[in-house]
Amino acid sequence: MKALICESWRPFDELELKTVPEPALDGPGDVRIRILHSGVSFATTLVVQGKYQRKPPLPFAPGTEIAGEVLEVGAEVRHLAVGDRVCAVLDWGGYAEQVVVHARHVLPVPESLPLEASVALPISYMTAYGALVWRAKVRPGERVLIHGAAGGVGLAAVEIALALGCEVYAVVRGERKAAFLRERSAQHVIDSSAQPFRDAVESLTRGEGVHVVLDTIGGSVFRESLRCLQLDGRHIVIGFAQGEIPQVPANILLLKNISVSGFNVGQYIGWGVVDERERYAGTYRRGMEQLINWWADGRIAPKVHARLPLGQFREAMAKVTGREAIGRVVLDI
Ligand SMILES: NC(=O)c1ccc[n+]([C@@H]2O[C@H](COP(=O)([O-])OP(=O)(O)OC[C@H]3O[C@@H](n4cnc5c(N)ncnc54)[C@H](OP(=O)(O)O)[C@@H]3O)[C@@H](O)[C@H]2O)c1
Repeated sequence: MKALICESWRPFDELELKTVPEPALDGPGDVRIRILHSGVSFATTLVVQGKYQRKPPLPFAPGTEIAGEVLEVGAEVRHLAVGDRVCAVLDWGGYAEQVVVHARHVLPVPESLPLEASVALPISYMTAYGALVWRAKVRPGERVLIHGAAGGVGLAAVEIALALGCEVYAVVRGERKAAFLRERSAQHVIDSSAQPFRDAVESLTRGEGVHVVLDTIGGSVFRESLRCLQLDGRHIVIGFAQGEIPQVPANILLLKNISVSGFNVGQYIGWGVVDERERYAGTYRRGMEQLINWWADGRIAPKVHARLPLGQFREAMAKVTGREAIGRVVLDI
């Protein structure tokens, strides 16, 4: 089969398309999947350079978010059958024509839903879901400030916050993204290229601030966001797209009774310091099932920005790193 292979730690653009043997089932809980679509995300550029917290054994095919069709199931797999349309999260191996993976993180995708968009569920949507539902415990009517709101996690968070009855304050850069967010019914859209988001939140909330911040950016955005929180507010750290890992000014936490916590979806799928995929399998699956039900009911609608063939992996990644994408970029395998 064809696969994009990382033979030694190197820049993403230097990966090579190779022909490798098809994988075989390794245990009775495994499934073999024909991969049709694979998500493109910035983290992969770190993985292939050996700069991510987890390092796959060389050589390997990167890619962790996939959708495809079940080719074979192990004897103990009950919830899947040959021919099922599925999406899954992998440790690695997604930029290839086939993969073998344990069935615990493989879920059926109903016929009515576009398979290519389901690559957004296992990481982007589950991160937003876990941050808002499990960590922030948002309630209907709460004001939620979402940074990078046209990005993979941010757009998922906008949709989930709206599905939960929250009032969304979506921060994006540029009118193209702002117009899209307004179309998606975000109540307040802030164009960070036109106005500092802190000023916008101040005037939109008449100085009251927001209850929850979902922060995918870090750096100065983290510091300014703490000033946007109302008393008893919650700030959830998701990532550092800006590149700077901020320090917490603890005096502000004390003065405003606010809390700062982090959410890492990797903990739920075996990517934590300790591999706890078995412990969290049920929790993770219930989250995924909730998302698929919301999607089937039209309450969320994962968006694919662009689809490119596997051979155009460099162009696909450039759309992500260049901040062009609204939603997810997908490789068709
Ligand atoms: N904690 C977790 O479990 C988890 C899971 C998935 C991802 N993450 C992390 O969360 C962050 C966002 O992930 P994502 O998949 O949503 O990424 P993405 O699709 O690339 O979106 C990131 C957004 O951040 C904004 N941004 C602001 N400053 C930026 C900068 N200097 N460089 C690039 N983008 C910048 C961009 O929006 P504008 O152009 O509109 O400003 C962009 O749309 C990443 O750091 C990722 O590693 C964490």
